[in-house]
Amino acid sequence: MNSIEKGSMKRGEFLRSLGLSTSTLMAFYCLGTTMTACGSKDDDPNPNPNPDPGTGGSGITGTTSGTAINFTVDMTKSPYDELKTAGNGKVIGDVLVAKTSGGSYVALSKICTHEGNEVRYRSTSNDVFCQTHGSTFSTSGAVTNGPATTPLKTYNITVSSDGNTLTVKA
Ligand code: FES
Repeated sequence: MNSIEKGSMKRGEFLRSLGLSTSTLMAFYCLGTTMTACGSKDDDPNPNPNPDPGTGGSGITGTTSGTAINFTVDMTKSPYDELKTAGNGKVIGDVLVAKTSGGSYVALSKICTHEGNEVRYRSTSNDVFCQTHGSTFSTSGAVTNGPATTPLKTYNITVSSDGNTLTVKA
């Protein structure tokens, strides 16, 4: 019987027909299982609707997360051009960068000191807010409303003389 008819041969039959050993066959099976488990991005049950640009995104150069924060933001590029306007904030990696309603730049940890959720800059009250349990922080990181009791970590932030580049450092 010729079992190599188009589409009728199973993978194991095909591999055995090549005269491969049992251990080699197991390697093929494992590889097939591993590759299936990898899936594709389309299989992600929890896709992030607001992906973090992180390092390497257009307009960001350097390290945006971890303990060695040190990056630059090119504010001539979208969406970072919004940071030229007072009252706007953006999360870049682990850092919340904002141009306050008063026009100064601030950089703080995006991680709420209460239970670690992400904070946001609010232009209406010129503060930093965690919507999870309602903690608020000043733009210099001080707790202004609990339940958080520990200030947000702050980073050094400078703007270039032409106003186009921010540098954020730990
Ligand atoms: S995690 Fe931010 S207030 Fe609770």
